Amino acid sequence: MLTESLYIDWNNSFEVLDKAYESNLFVLIIGPKGTGKTTLVREFATRKQAKLESINFSLRTRESHLIGSKTLYAGAIGFEHGILVRSMKDGSMLYLDEVNAAEADVLLRLDEALDDRRQIVLKEAGGELIEATKEWFVIATINPLSHVGTKELPPQLLSRFPVRIKLDYPPEEIELKIVKNYVSVSHEKEILRGIKLANILRQAAAVEELYYSPSLRETIAFGKVLDSGMKPRQAADVVFANIYAQWGSVEYQKVNDIITSMFGN
Ligand SMILES: Nc1ncnc2c1ncn2[C@@H]1O[C@H](COP(=O)(O)OP(=O)(O)OP(=O)(O)O)[C@@H](O)[C@H]1O
Ligand SMILES: [Mg+2]
Repeated sequence: MLTESLYIDWNNSFEVLDKAYESNLFVLIIGPKGTGKTTLVREFATRKQAKLESINFSLRTRESHLIGSKTLYAGAIGFEHGILVRSMKDGSMLYLDEVNAAEADVLLRLDEALDDRRQIVLKEAGGELIEATKEWFVIATINPLSHVGTKELPPQLLSRFPVRIKLDYPPEEIELKIVKNYVSVSHEKEILRGIKLANILRQAAAVEELYYSPSLRETIAFGKVLDSGMKPRQAADVVFANIYAQWGSVEYQKVNDIITSMFGN
């Protein structure tokens, strides 16, 4: 089965999203990288037949990306709305990805729009008042605080998202089911071994014994390279082990030893 987009809803996230949507309560999804956050949101928007507007936050995201900026066309000054204002007016679904990577001034403008009045004053455009249509819906994601470049969100902004979904790495048998969605040949035993390896590395990273925690992207890639005919030991090296060389030979050797014990030489 090569169904790239079919989301496996292993912890009833759609039900929670549905209830939040019906109650017009905005949702925050918390989870480490590669746990299916983006896939979940995309699929939810598809189910609701809503237009999805996405923005991925970083230190470079400016207020103007959200609000808009002045334009000069044929000698006339205009104002082109940014993604936040556009989605409020259109009543689309707005996806604020990694919102905890944004700078404080950007968060302040979000704060204004997301409070119960759901409106914002465009001081940049002569004080125009934008009111969101009632279909407007917002979902944000944050990565756990240990991630580089992430900051704690101010409590008042957190309170704008009163429904919270925690997405973590799935249980083994569920992860196996997810990976099998992306591969055609069945290498169930080998894939399961790759997932066990990933979980050992994740646990070591969680207690800071390793610098990196492999995501579902890696376990899916492991399945795919097996599919391409690569031997399991080599697949484990290229997908799981080699990355640790970035942190030096001691770090790499730790992982290499684990792989040898599981996959042989
Ligand atoms: N429950 C699931 N059902 C189907 N596929 C999944 C599921 N969870 C994760 N995946 C797959 O795992 C990969 C990573 O998922 P995705 O990009 O949605 O994660 P993410 O949490 O948004 O990651 P990041 O924090 O890095 O943005 C994708 O290929 C996705 O389709
Ligand atoms: Mg994502």
